[in-house]
Amino acid sequence: MAEPLSRERGVLVIGAGTMGSGIAEVAAAAGHRVYLRDASDAAVQRGLALIRASLDKRVARGKLPQSGRDTILERVQPAPPGVPSGLGLVIEAIYEDLEAKVQALTAVEASLPADATAPAVAQAIAATAQSWGKSPVHCRSTPGFIVNRVARPFYAEALRLLQEQAGSPATVDAVLRECGGFRMGPCELMDLIGHDVNFAVTRSVYQGFFEDSRYRPSLLQQELVHAGWLGRKSGRGFFDYAEGVQQPAADEQSRGPIPRWCASKASSGLRAGSANCCASARASVWRKARASACCASTAWRWR
Ligand SMILES: NC(=O)c1ccc[n+]([C@@H]2O[C@H](COP(=O)([O-])OP(=O)(O)OC[C@H]3O[C@@H](n4cnc5c(N)ncnc54)[C@H](O)[C@@H]3O)[C@@H](O)[C@H]2O)c1
Repeated sequence: MAEPLSRERGVLVIGAGTMGSGIAEVAAAAGHRVYLRDASDAAVQRGLALIRASLDKRVARGKLPQSGRDTILERVQPAPPGVPSGLGLVIEAIYEDLEAKVQALTAVEASLPADATAPAVAQAIAATAQSWGKSPVHCRSTPGFIVNRVARPFYAEALRLLQEQAGSPATVDAVLRECGGFRMGPCELMDLIGHDVNFAVTRSVYQGFFEDSRYRPSLLQQELVHAGWLGRKSGRGFFDYAEGVQQPAADEQSRGPIPRWCASKASSGLRAGSANCCASARASVWRKARASACCASTAWRWR
């Protein structure tokens, strides 16, 4: 069993965005000195602010004492040029751009020990992640690894549903959350991840699989990226995150034309559980109660 990284060794995190700041916080909470590096000082400061906000939230929820918050924050600092002394681990968490990642890693590679890519390193990293309270798994190097690969269709099918105007983002999310048991719907999750990041990962997995159509990126998501509607971080994605804005509810009424056969049955209402439970697109697109969860799933047909 490999030994985890000693708490005396420092951790350099390159990329101080959503992932990098989260990783830095975890490493600092585990007792390491953490150095944050990004393309600009402003980006490092943004990363530090993310960590501060996350720790403050934990304090407010009573999950962390104020003194613990201060100790963790003191352990994180902007990285000096070059490789900080006493460094034991470098974690790259920069924007999904292979060239940028290679450049950033090449810049520190020369200063790393010769055995930094030995197979034992993977074991040591797993042991370290475990000692930080995480549950690491080993996976072969394959596009998207496990989570990003399996999550692709979750996002892609939701985006296709939206392109087909099958339902609103809030409706798609509600069905998957309330009936599917997912903690977050795909649209709110893409808003949280950031459409720029999510779109870039889809493009990279698509290229990685030689343009397998299962992973084809979405024009709708590209439109959001071009518009700067990146999700929570830009204040607007599928949903509007401006202060005081009430999030839309799932549609209980169809907004589109109703197939003739559906319309003729609409007067009999929605009978969840019966053979006709999906017959009335007019009556309801989704039902919140899990027990009688039901979707009126007919495709719209223009008359
Ligand atoms: N966000 C997620 O949920 C998630 C999940 C799994 C994996 N990832 C992966 O993690 C990586 C980072 O994603 P993120 O969500 O933190 O993105 P992000 O956009 O929040 O942060 C990326 C950071 O990289 C910085 N950066 C860009 N070029 C740089 C350079 N040359 N040197 C140093 N820093 C540079 C940016 O300034 C930014 O601060 C991506 O590869 C992404 O695919 C993200």
